[in-house]
Amino acid sequence: MDSTGNDKDKDSLTRLHTVTLINGEDSSKEGETSPLCSKEQARQSRDGPIVSAFKQAKLEKEAQKNWDLFYKRNSTNFFKDRHWTTREFEELRACREFDDQKLTILEAGCGVGNCLFPLLEEDLNIFAYACDFSPRAIDYVKQNSLYDTSRCKAFHCDLTQDDLLEHVPAASIDVVTLIFVLSAIHPDKMHLVLQNVYKVLKPGKCVLFRDYGLNDHAMLRFKAANRLGENFYVRQDGTRAYFFTDVFLAQLFQAAGFEEVVNEYVLRETVNKKEGLCVPRVFLQSKFRKPLRTP
Ligand SMILES: C[S@@+](CC[C@H](N)C(=O)[O-])C[C@H]1O[C@@H](n2cnc3c(N)ncnc32)[C@H](O)[C@@H]1O
Repeated sequence: MDSTGNDKDKDSLTRLHTVTLINGEDSSKEGETSPLCSKEQARQSRDGPIVSAFKQAKLEKEAQKNWDLFYKRNSTNFFKDRHWTTREFEELRACREFDDQKLTILEAGCGVGNCLFPLLEEDLNIFAYACDFSPRAIDYVKQNSLYDTSRCKAFHCDLTQDDLLEHVPAASIDVVTLIFVLSAIHPDKMHLVLQNVYKVLKPGKCVLFRDYGLNDHAMLRFKAANRLGENFYVRQDGTRAYFFTDVFLAQLFQAAGFEEVVNEYVLRETVNKKEGLCVPRVFLQSKFRKPLRTP
């Protein structure tokens, strides 16, 4: 087995849910109107040569700048608001001993608040910390009319190097969310993010993870020239995307001290009626717990 557990792809894809979406709810706009890739394109984008070491180092160095420029270009208009699903509300309910108990959450890599604000509107008993390494994204969060410092605190943070403890008390968080964030980070640095969030999570509480799964449409439409490494690609704008297997993700969380609770693929179809296209999407949706007793 390789480091990403690719030989388990077929097995693990048998554990999945399929949902059909009309016009792309729950995904970014990228690729929704692109035609499906041929098998050959898909093979090339998985196995082809990779971008030079020089360019890779530059992309890593400029990661923050590239995300900041992304938000400069797109303002708050790119990602759709991600309304929380039953799964997430169940998690919040499970964290509570009584119905209106106050919970504290951390949205790590919040972008411009597409998850944060729907949640704050829907659950009045939440206090949310929210951080991102794009200063511009954090500015947009703070300028949002729903931003209320009695209910949330947004701050700038590179999750791979800034200590969350500078903003968030140790072991104070009931739920951490990582929604399409880890995929934006170099696989060699993902463990640093998990070590960071581990410190602020209460023992017995969970990280909710949702991100791109292996062979998602967004992965198959990348050209070979955009390949940075195994399951890792660069977009035109310099932002990067990693496509997860369940095995790779489980190993990553377990190495950081978490226990697996749920770790499964979700298959979706994005239907664009206007364009007459049906696009298969693969996401990985998972939940990992910080043990009650920590070593
Ligand atoms: C695809 S966006 C997702 C944003 C948000 N979670 C959502 O669902 O709308 C990825 C986000 O991760 C942030 N990000 C990437 N690397 C990061 C890092 N090292 N530390 C903190 N945030 C990071 C980017 O700035 C960007 O806002």
